[in-house]
Amino acid sequence: MNQKLLEGKRGIITGALNSSSLAWKAAERCYQEGAKFVLTNTAYVLEKGEIKNLAQKTGSEVIVADISNSEDIKKLFQKSTENLGGKIDFLLHSVAMSYNIKDGLPYPGLNYDYFLKTIEISALSLHKLLSTGWRLGALAEEGSVVTLSYIAAQRAFPFYSDMAEAKAILESIVRSFGYYLGKEKKIRINAISQSPSKTVAARGIKGFEDFYEYAQAISPLGNAPAESCADLAVALFSDLTRGVTMQTIYNDGGFSSTGASEEVIKRFIRGK
Ligand SMILES: NC(=O)c1ccc[n+]([C@@H]2O[C@H](COP(=O)([O-])OP(=O)(O)OC[C@H]3O[C@@H](n4cnc5c(N)ncnc54)[C@H](O)[C@@H]3O)[C@@H](O)[C@H]2O)c1
Repeated sequence: MNQKLLEGKRGIITGALNSSSLAWKAAERCYQEGAKFVLTNTAYVLEKGEIKNLAQKTGSEVIVADISNSEDIKKLFQKSTENLGGKIDFLLHSVAMSYNIKDGLPYPGLNYDYFLKTIEISALSLHKLLSTGWRLGALAEEGSVVTLSYIAAQRAFPFYSDMAEAKAILESIVRSFGYYLGKEKKIRINAISQSPSKTVAARGIKGFEDFYEYAQAISPLGNAPAESCADLAVALFSDLTRGVTMQTIYNDGGFSSTGASEEVIKRFIRGK
């Protein structure tokens, strides 16, 4: 019997901007595995138009929502459950934004209004999604939620700016909300801590291309590609991972457990 992994499941996928987006690849894989879902992003992204190609390819509706706006999130759940004909089995939170990074402000001189906005869009939005879905009764029992993080939540990476704090809060929400989701609804929630991947958000970070090469040279498996992140998201949404919740799972080719690599040392010595 070859049943697809996500057959019969209904989902919401945030954050697909273009074909390089982690959420875009995840949406393609969820579709291959038989899931039905809606896509959501800002009005600006919908106007730009690329997301319509993904929507057409996967037979999905695009629902406009600013993920930091509670009213938009409420409408998102109402429209999604109506469109999909039932409660939400899986939710992909794949959203981040830092105006401090965008404007190239150095970490010791952050703009605090921007800082709060970074936290609001990149971390609190997960709490708002869960809280709204919970209150509306729109989250299906035994569902699964995935968000995307980065190892700068735990260690210092100079270029990652206030996004490091946002990811630390995000991973904490995964644990704290995970308790309630699990206890009351048997819903799982996990963060995938992903290797650097060449997306619009990542390319906005100063020095990203060089760091990508560094991470590639440190990681025993090399950087984990976006496609493998999509595979992991599908696995976490599927019933194969029923016992996994409240975790940060590293999809990083071994970067987080590696102290040094011969390749990097050799390059460093040669560079001297
Ligand atoms: N690319 C990487 O190297 C990498 C590594 C680890 C984690 N991540 C995380 O993966 C997630 C997805 O980013 P990506 O790399 O695919 O980049 P991306 O630029 O393709 O996606 C970011 C998305 O966030 C959306 N967004 C921003 N503000 C929003 C708002 N107010 N409301 C709704 N949507 C909004 C954008 O429209 C875009 O679709 C982010 O959380 C990012 O931090 C990325």
